[in-house]
Formats: sequence, structure tokens, C-alpha cells
Amino acid sequence: ARTLDLAVIAGDGIGPEVVREGEKVLARALRDEGVQLNRRELDLGAERYLRTGEILTEDDMARIRDCEAILLGAIGDPRVPSGVLERGLLLKLRFDLDHYINLRPAKLYPGVPTPLAAPGDVDFVVVREGTEGLYCGQGGTARTGTPHEVATEVSVNTAYGVERTVRYAFELASSRSGHLTLVHKHNVLVHAGGLWARIVEEVAREYPNVRHDYCHIDAATIYMVTDPSRFDVIVTDNLFGDILTDEAGAITGGIGLAASGNLNPTRTTPSMFEPVHGSAPDIAGTSTADPTATIASVALLLDFLDLPEQARRVDAAISADMARRAEAAAAGSPLTRSTQTIGDDIVKAL
Ligand code: IPM
Ligand code: MN
Repeated sequence: ARTLDLAVIAGDGIGPEVVREGEKVLARALRDEGVQLNRRELDLGAERYLRTGEILTEDDMARIRDCEAILLGAIGDPRVPSGVLERGLLLKLRFDLDHYINLRPAKLYPGVPTPLAAPGDVDFVVVREGTEGLYCGQGGTARTGTPHEVATEVSVNTAYGVERTVRYAFELASSRSGHLTLVHKHNVLVHAGGLWARIVEEVAREYPNVRHDYCHIDAATIYMVTDPSRFDVIVTDNLFGDILTDEAGAITGGIGLAASGNLNPTRTTPSMFEPVHGSAPDIAGTSTADPTATIASVALLLDFLDLPEQARRVDAAISADMARRAEAAAAGSPLTRSTQTIGDDIVKAL
């Protein structure tokens, strides 16, 4: 029988609570498919760092590389200076495992509360580049601490890195409604923006069935709240994609629902699935976090591992759960369920 070796990184804050529910759903879907799940839990995150000073050792990395996929909860803790765990753990995983596609679907399920008065049919996917751009850590400071201090962050964009991302996005667009939008800021960022625009034009020639257009990032943030149904597949760089997908989460029911996959489509390393939200230390341990984003990330995992039928079932169970919420809210008695109860309910709906 098929097996799945899964690295589990529950991480910080609400991470362990939401990952537990994601695993429940995954275990059930795999069981129904006859796949044996071998889980390997990794003790990574703030607690380990504070206890040992270690963030992610070579040994941890080797244990992770041995797996087929990674399920991650959240990373970040107020006791650790900003950037230490984000860079040393989360971004190191994305970079070292060459997760060049950060896939972030945004779908507004019927009845889900949105701040938009007339949202229309919101169902798009952001293909965020995952290993380049302003996230590379290129830069530095000079004359530190003086009034003349200079700080630079350099955005690194390679033809290789941009092309493989753009190609993935075109491929995705041709399997959906056939519409791709490049989001950038080439009127100001002429070097990087020029490269992205040129590569989109080049790759577009191979996809005559995909209509493509372009949107500056500032305009894109407007359209996302005034006319989000115009989008189908958005392709963009690492930082624009980071910002845009928080906004996409906000219009589709909040980041408590937003899922993501850090993919290496060549499958030479394990891909990593995680909710878009962070560790929410203020509500950690209260069983009030919504595990839906993690469960939706499990659906992305199943789909990526060629179990599309199980992915579809998990999506359907989430969608049914959303409908239940909407019904209860409409009847004037909104559901107040614990993290665990939401997980149980979604398992039941499978
Ligand atoms: C995300 C997060 C991360 C990012 C942080 C925690 C490094 O905001 O997954 O969107 O910026 O990519
Ligand atoms: Mn983010």
C-alpha cells in the first residue's frame, strides 16, 4: 500500500492547536484512500530556541528532507526578537527546499461574512514567487546609529526564478478559466518589473488559450475590494504576493480560512503546507483558533500528492461547514465552537 511520510512542524502559539485538527482530517482522508501515514514530529519553534538556542539544525533539515511533505502550523513568538524565527526557520525552509511557488487560493464560500458589500464571484489563486525578491536578505546598513544611517534591502529577481514561476502560473491558468494577471510595479521598479513583464510576454506565446493582463500593485489592492471577480490567476513577486494574499484573506472570510502551499513542483524536495495566518499568541491555548485554514492547507497537500479525489472531499467538507455557519448566523445564533469541535465537525462532514 502507498505510504505518506509527513513532517509535522506544529510550531508556536496556536500552531499546535490548528495542526492537530489538520492532522485529524488528513488521517481520515488517507485512511479512506488506503494510504498509510507515517508522521515525524519536529520540535521546532520558539520553545526549542529559547531552551537550546537552536533554530533549525542540519540534522533537523535532513529529517525533513526525508519526508514527502510538511505540515506546518505557525512560527513566531513575542519572546523572540522579530525576524529570528521567521528568517531562521520559516524562510530557511522555503529557501533551502526551493519552494519557488507559494500557492494561495482565495475563494469566497456562500454565506461567509466578507467586508465587501457586493463581492461577486470571488475565486482566484495567487501564485506568489517564494524564493526571491525582497525576501533574499540582500542588503545592509551603513553608518549605523548615526543620523546618516543608510539601510538597503535589495530585491533579487532572476530570469530562471521568474520564468519557472510564470510558467507555473500559465499552466494553472490554462487549467482554470484561462486568465492570468501579472501584478507588479514596473512604472517605478523598472528593472525587476521589466524582467517580469518581459517573461510574461514570452511565456504567453506558448499559451494562446490564456488571456493575460497586467495590474500595478497599488491598483490591484483597489480592485481586490472593488471588483475581485476580475481575477483568476495572479502571478507576482514574493513581497507583493505576501501583502496581496493577506488582503485576499480578508475579503474571503478572514485569514482564519486562508490556506497556502509552499511548492517545489519538481518534487525533488518535500513541499510544505501551512495556513496563511500567524501564531496569534494572544489566543494561544484558548481553543478558539479556527483550524479551517490548516484543514484547507491539508486539501492542497492532498491535491499536490496526487490524491485529488480526497482533496475534493476535504474542500466539500469545508464548504459544508461554511454553509452550517452561515445558516446558524442567519438564524440569529452564530456557532461558537472550539478549535477541536470545528475539526471534529469537518471530519464528520467528510
Ligand atoms: C506569510 C508570513 C511570512 C511571510 C512571514 C512570517 C515571514 O507573513 O507566510 O505570509 O512574510 O512570508
Ligand atoms: Mn504574510
